[in-house]
Amino acid sequence: MPAIVVLGAQWGDEGKGKATDLLATTDPIDFVVRTSGGHNAGHTIVVNGEKYATHLLPSGILTPGATSVIAGGVVVSPEALFHELDGLIARGVEVADLKVSANAHVIASYHATIDKVTERFLGKNQIGTTGRGIGPAYADKVNRVGVRIADLFDEGILRQKVEAALDVRNHLLTKVYNRRAIEVDAVVEELLSYAERLRPMVCDTSLLLNQALDAGRTVLFEGAQATMLDVDHGTYPFVTSSNPVAGGVCVGAGIGPTRIDRVVGVIKAYTTRVGAGPFPTELFDDDGARLQQLGGEIGVSTGRTRRCGWYDAVVARYASRVNGLTELFLTKLDILGAWERIPVCVAYEVDGQRVEEMPMTQTEFHHATPVYEYFDGWMSDISGCRTFDELPANAQAYVRALEEMSGAPIWGVGVGPGREQTLVVHP
Ligand code: GDP
Ligand code: IMO
Ligand code: MG
Repeated sequence: MPAIVVLGAQWGDEGKGKATDLLATTDPIDFVVRTSGGHNAGHTIVVNGEKYATHLLPSGILTPGATSVIAGGVVVSPEALFHELDGLIARGVEVADLKVSANAHVIASYHATIDKVTERFLGKNQIGTTGRGIGPAYADKVNRVGVRIADLFDEGILRQKVEAALDVRNHLLTKVYNRRAIEVDAVVEELLSYAERLRPMVCDTSLLLNQALDAGRTVLFEGAQATMLDVDHGTYPFVTSSNPVAGGVCVGAGIGPTRIDRVVGVIKAYTTRVGAGPFPTELFDDDGARLQQLGGEIGVSTGRTRRCGWYDAVVARYASRVNGLTELFLTKLDILGAWERIPVCVAYEVDGQRVEEMPMTQTEFHHATPVYEYFDGWMSDISGCRTFDELPANAQAYVRALEEMSGAPIWGVGVGPGREQTLVVHP
């Protein structure tokens, strides 16, 4: 299986890090690739009880022998990149080989400044971004005033580009937002300071990956963010500024869609969301607080508490459809062991009508209330189970029911954060 995509099927934090790490260690994987987003991601990997969090780096950085690739669709903060690398090195991790696309756009400190100022101006309409400068960096890219990694190796070009980028931005900052202007010299100096350390990592990652696939090597594309946070297919405007869906992988990596063999959607056995925006199954009661507490639902990047709710099969079917999922990886089933009865949202009611698929408009989605079906819980600790057959009958029935209604077969089930805490349903 040469090209495998792993992506988020809900609003992020489904366990993509764990799924990537698992695939990278069970099959020999040659490349682990990030294709969109930036250091707004927070992916947790637990190896032999040791916990690691990756943000901008692909989780493959922890897999010796695999090459990690940051492809052209990613927005790269060199500061965050080196901070993360140095953090792993300081912990004694033998970091894998790393390649960075020359075409990737750069996040400079002014992007984070603008991200935060813009959020403040939005007031009660704010998105609840991670404040990492992701949106402003993608905005510069689309406005054609972005700085790319390759520009860091030519001071003259870099200065011209930073001047162009800051021209309008500084008018906005000083005249609209009442802030100090950002100095071109300081930005250029900062970005140049990363150039030498970056140089050996930089290459044409599209060529690298296509040649690898031609040679029959195995490439794992590690999704960041998720389907419902996609700028085109998510709950716009409460989304990130990239395309985390499967189609975005081709654009972000520079590979054709015909290259992809498997598309694995990672999905929690319940639902969480960080930041603002609609969330039909959100719970505001004790069940929500318990899911949050038992699931340890605290953001890896920002430390924010995640909003929690029941599994939403309408979202699952939508994710299966827009990504062409070949399978699902269901995580955190172990967390549901404390409930006698588990509700699952099987459809919505929108303005008095039952709807089975994602409503067409944002207003309808805001008005959607869940229609629940109830499943018997198993009321036990399943974190020690290692095969699907070992699961209590009610847990097996819950997984089979979700599979039936979610639009793709469930390949594996997570019963704990560790690599080994995974049950294969369909090998
Ligand atoms: P990602 O952003 O999709 O990689 O997910 P995060 O790392 O932000 O959040 C997922 C959290 O769930 C992490 O703390 C993981 O260690 C943890 N996790 C993943 N799979 C399981 C599972 O099956 N059971 C439990 N209890 N925790 C899991
Ligand atoms: P992983 O890869 C969960 C959310 C933010 C905010 C919105 C826009 O760990 O699943 P941004 O900073 O991207 O402009 O914020 O998107 N968000 C995430 N939520 N997991 C993530 O990544 C996220 N990355 C961005 O909370 O609502
Ligand atoms: Mg996360």
